[in-house]
Amino acid sequence: MKALTWHGRSDVRCENVPEPTIVDPTDAIVRITSTAICGSDLHLYDGFNPFMEAGDILGHEPMGIVEEVGSAVKRIKKGDRVVIPFTISCGACWFCQATLYSLCDTTNRNSEVARKTMGHTTAGLFGYSHLTGGYAGGQAQYLRVPYADVGPLVIDSDLPDEQVLFLSDIFPTGWMAAENAEIAPGDTVAVWGCGPVGQFCIQSAWMMGAGRVIAIDNVPERLAMAEKHGRAETINFKEVGVYDRLMEMTGGRGPDRCIDAVGAEAHSTGSLDALYDKAKTMLMQETDRPHVLREAIMCCRPGGTISVPGVYLGVGDKIPLGAFMNKGLTMKTGQTHVPRYHEQLLRRVESGEIDPSFVITHTVGIDQGPDMYKTFRDKEDGCIKVVLKPWD
Ligand SMILES: NC(=O)c1ccc[n+]([C@@H]2O[C@H](COP(=O)([O-])OP(=O)(O)OC[C@H]3O[C@@H](n4cnc5c(N)ncnc54)[C@H](O)[C@@H]3O)[C@@H](O)[C@H]2O)c1
Ligand SMILES: [Zn+2]
Ligand SMILES: [Zn+2]
Repeated sequence: MKALTWHGRSDVRCENVPEPTIVDPTDAIVRITSTAICGSDLHLYDGFNPFMEAGDILGHEPMGIVEEVGSAVKRIKKGDRVVIPFTISCGACWFCQATLYSLCDTTNRNSEVARKTMGHTTAGLFGYSHLTGGYAGGQAQYLRVPYADVGPLVIDSDLPDEQVLFLSDIFPTGWMAAENAEIAPGDTVAVWGCGPVGQFCIQSAWMMGAGRVIAIDNVPERLAMAEKHGRAETINFKEVGVYDRLMEMTGGRGPDRCIDAVGAEAHSTGSLDALYDKAKTMLMQETDRPHVLREAIMCCRPGGTISVPGVYLGVGDKIPLGAFMNKGLTMKTGQTHVPRYHEQLLRRVESGEIDPSFVITHTVGIDQGPDMYKTFRDKEDGCIKVVLKPWD
């Protein structure tokens, strides 16, 4: 079958690889009809994750038709149309029982490595390195889905793939980020990053009763989407100082809730901390560039909340802990507990409250996947979200 495989920094290939088979009785094999490229994949593409191996199959936002199920699978059957969460969860451990699905402590096959680097293991993830289990990903014609009775969301309606695909990741991610931000009705919410995740943070913030949403980025078409589709006020961080502008817009108080939808690869406009990150990461003394996290802590109003859906991978320096502590801020973060949210969000799509397909700018066959990684990373051709069709 065809699949997108990782071969090093900026090197993704479309290759012929063996088709997956049922390994455990709780597995299913899904024939993938649509699959997307996520901002999280860019951290792998940019070589930020040392736990990738040449030939690893990428992708964690897939959906398709169940082709085969193992003997123990009861909830889904051959022919079902399913959206697959990016998290692999067992459904039975203490964390799954508490609906902390991305923290499942039984699905990471390399849990010892995770324990050494993070103190604990977290869940296995599709297509996301050997630190999270080394599972083959969903940018492929077929995917093996472990614990198939737990994750997959069955789609009974005839909504097109494009409207339900993002229930695998970025819509629940934006939703959980807004929930983690603890938005009270009327709050001013600032969202750093107008990529696909930021766009769903904006949508979710409104659905949770925000009074005002301010979105920050420097890519014109992403800011335009935040304004037009997201009804957000915007700040271009290349044109104005974010702190000064946010204080001006909020009468000096600062936003109540700040969402970092950027993560480890933040860009900046030559601020001192950015130069420091550049030097430190080049010397391999820091893995992440936490510029946005620092800025959010400085901008957030005292007593406010910082929500971090943006992915960080290792260690970052010069986080202003003094400001964080003395301003009495709260921080919440995490990989999304997708199955906690996907059903209720599907209902919102079915009712017409939201049509998640608004973020899609490119739909291509899987052969064009390698080019699309570059186009998406470099924000060329107005690219905001790519959907791949593995069988076209
Ligand atoms: N927590 C989760 O479960 C989860 C799920 C999906 C994605 N993510 C993460 O969310 C983040 C965003 O994902 P995406 O798909 O939208 O990625 P993306 O790369 O398309 O978007 C990131 C955006 O941040 C902007 N940006 C860069 N520096 C900035 C700065 N200093 N200030 C404001 N904006 C800045 C970029 O221009 C870009 O538009 C990534 O870190 C991704 O790994 C997390
Ligand atoms: Zn993702
Ligand atoms: Zn579990």
